Parts: sequence; C-alpha cells; structure tokens
Amino acid sequence: MRAVEIHEYGAARDVLNFNQDAPEPEPAPDEIRIRVHAGAVNNIDCAIRSGYGSEFFKQHGMFELPIIMGRDVSGVVDKVGVDVTQFTIGDEVYASPSNRGCADYVTVKANFVALKPRNLTHLEAASFPYVILTAWAALVDHAGLTAENTAGQKVFLPRGSGGVGTLAIQWMKAWGATVATTCSTKNIELVKSLGADEVFDYTKDGFEGRLQDCDVALDMLGYEMEQPILATLKVKNAARYVSIISPLMPLTVEHGYDKGVEMYEAQLADRKSVQAELGREFAWSFMQPNGSALANIAELIEQEKIKPVIDRVYPMEQLVDAHEYVESRRARGKVVISIVDPG
Ligand SMILES: NC(=O)c1ccc[n+]([C@@H]2O[C@H](COP(=O)([O-])OP(=O)(O)OC[C@H]3O[C@@H](n4cnc5c(N)ncnc54)[C@H](OP(=O)(O)O)[C@@H]3O)[C@@H](O)[C@H]2O)c1
Repeated sequence: MRAVEIHEYGAARDVLNFNQDAPEPEPAPDEIRIRVHAGAVNNIDCAIRSGYGSEFFKQHGMFELPIIMGRDVSGVVDKVGVDVTQFTIGDEVYASPSNRGCADYVTVKANFVALKPRNLTHLEAASFPYVILTAWAALVDHAGLTAENTAGQKVFLPRGSGGVGTLAIQWMKAWGATVATTCSTKNIELVKSLGADEVFDYTKDGFEGRLQDCDVALDMLGYEMEQPILATLKVKNAARYVSIISPLMPLTVEHGYDKGVEMYEAQLADRKSVQAELGREFAWSFMQPNGSALANIAELIEQEKIKPVIDRVYPMEQLVDAHEYVESRRARGKVVISIVDPG
C-alpha cells in the first residue's frame, strides 16, 4: 500500500518519505481496518516527525521508528476483527488512529471509531476526529460540561481560528454557552460566523483586563498566557481552567523522563492548590481516543450545528507542504489530506 513515513526525525522536507510498497496492516480481534479516503495534519504530527519528545514516547512504548504519519482518518471499513460487532464491511467511519493514518489502510480499535457524519464528504469528516477528541477530553472530561449543563455558562476559547478553536466555538454554542474568543484581525469575521459572542483581537487590545466572569477557560495558547487566562475566570464559583498545552513534554526533553515527570506532577499539584484556594479547578489535558465522543459530535454535525472549517487540502504526495503550512501556525481551521482522489 501507499504510505507516508519517517525513518529518522527531522524537518518535513528531509524526512517525510513516500513509500509505494508499505505492508498492509491486518486487524487484531478488537480492531477494524479502514480503507482511508482522507486524513488531516495536526501540530502533534509535526512534533512527532521532528523527534520532539521522542524519549517520552519511547518510555510509553509509542511511536518507535519507522512511523507512518497521520492521526486523522475518514474512510470505509474493509476488514473486521473477529470480536468486533458494532461495524460491518462497507461502513463509512471516522477516527483518530495513533499515527499510521496517512496510508491506504489503517487498523483502529473498534471502540475508538464512529460512523462518519452522513452529510459530510470524507475530506470534510477527516478534519474532525483529533480536534473533537482533544476538546472532548478538556471540556467534558475535565471541565465537566454536558449537553444539559452548558447553557448559561461563559466559556473562553482563546485561539478561535485554529483547528481546535473552530470546532470548540461551534460545539459550545450548540450546547448553549456564551463564547468568548481571541484571533487576529483577519479572522474576526470567521470566528463571528462560527457563533463567537465576544471577540478580542490579539494583535490590538487583546482580552487582558477586558474579559472576566468566565466559568470555563480552555487554554490553547500556553504558559505565557496562563495567568492572563486564569484572570478571566470567576472566583469562588467552581470555575474551571483547562489547558491543552502542558509542560510535560518540554520538561521531559529538558530534564530526562523520570525527573521531567516528577517536575510536571509537582507543578500540577502546586497550580491545583493555588487555584483551589480561589475556588477554581486547574487541569492539563490531553487528547483521548473515544468512539462515543465522535458519535456524539457526529449528531451535532448532522444537525448542521457544527460545520467543517477547512483551510487547505493537499494530496498525500504533498504531505511535506501540508506539514510546513501547519508549522507556520497560521492555518484557519484544518489542513486536510486527500488519500483517495475524490474525483
Ligand atoms: N493536549 C493535546 O492533546 C492537544 C491536542 C491538539 C492541539 N494541542 C495544542 O493546542 C494548540 C492549538 O492547536 P490547533 O491545532 O488548534 O492549532 P492551529 O490550528 O495550528 O492554530 C493555528 C491558528 O492559531 C492562531 N493563532 C496563532 N497565534 C495566536 C495567538 N497568539 N492568539 C490567538 N490565535 C493565535 C492562528 O491565527 P492567526 O494567523 O490569525 O494568528 C491560526 O488560525 C497547539 O499548541 C497544539 O499543539 C494540544
């Protein structure tokens, strides 16, 4: 099968390798095999490719070289493991495999897969799984938001024009939240069209000192903005701060695995206790595979409450250009990869 893989870490142009003759995977008893039609690129792909955090991944038995890239797929089930009952050959599905998605075929645990939203093409559906699972882990698993309790809550989603932000704005609006976000001047109309109620231009005045009384903040900016984002939250009112940019990887890169994890845990405990004094919760959150989350959001997509926001589509042969564009950090919504020419 065709696959784009790396045999060493480095810059996209130096290490991404188009293989015409990679071995086809076979599904384990609890897996399905997907004939991949489309994928997408996420920042994590670029991090894995560059070798950033490779020691950390090795310690977890993940991502040993060679690696087939790609953590988003939409396609058609073409083989089913003997224990799988919920999917049959021919089902159209979407999922976030642990790499290996930028290929003709990928195997994924059936529990981590959902039926593709019926109203979307494969190219559109492939823009969603990784960002859905990132936002779900943060907003549902950590911040405790549900379809029933979100109405009336004020949710701050800084970086609204990116892959996670464009999804999260629409989803939180669909569940009834009031949404505040940040972006640059050129993306104000985009985030407003997605439903954002309050928009702060980070290239002008920004949100600092101007946004307050939020119930939930999903930090997509990182350490430098942690304090200003915390300052937007209510005090003594069970407000929740969840960041999807944690220091875990940088600490393990800088101090080695054991020391880095120890420092991460100490920093997390400190922050939790400082925020608990203010009546707030603090969390660092990571994407988690979760088929029922994908099925849940597929319903909102089919109701057209959430629409894909796709900046660019590249054929798999041009994955180098796609990685370089994502690394520019300027993408509006998602960068999608065509595996099967949609014709
Ligand atoms: N923990 C996890 O599991 C997890 C999962 C997914 C992502 N992440 C991390 O979360 C972050 C967001 O991911 P993503 O995929 O949504 O990113 P992305 O799509 O690559 O973000 C690109 C967008 O960010 C905007 N942007 C850049 N700097 C900004 C700033 N200072 N303020 C506001 N907007 C800004 C850009 O708009 P302009 O061109 O207008 O600046 C662009 O539209 C990344 O750091 C990523 O590594 C973590």
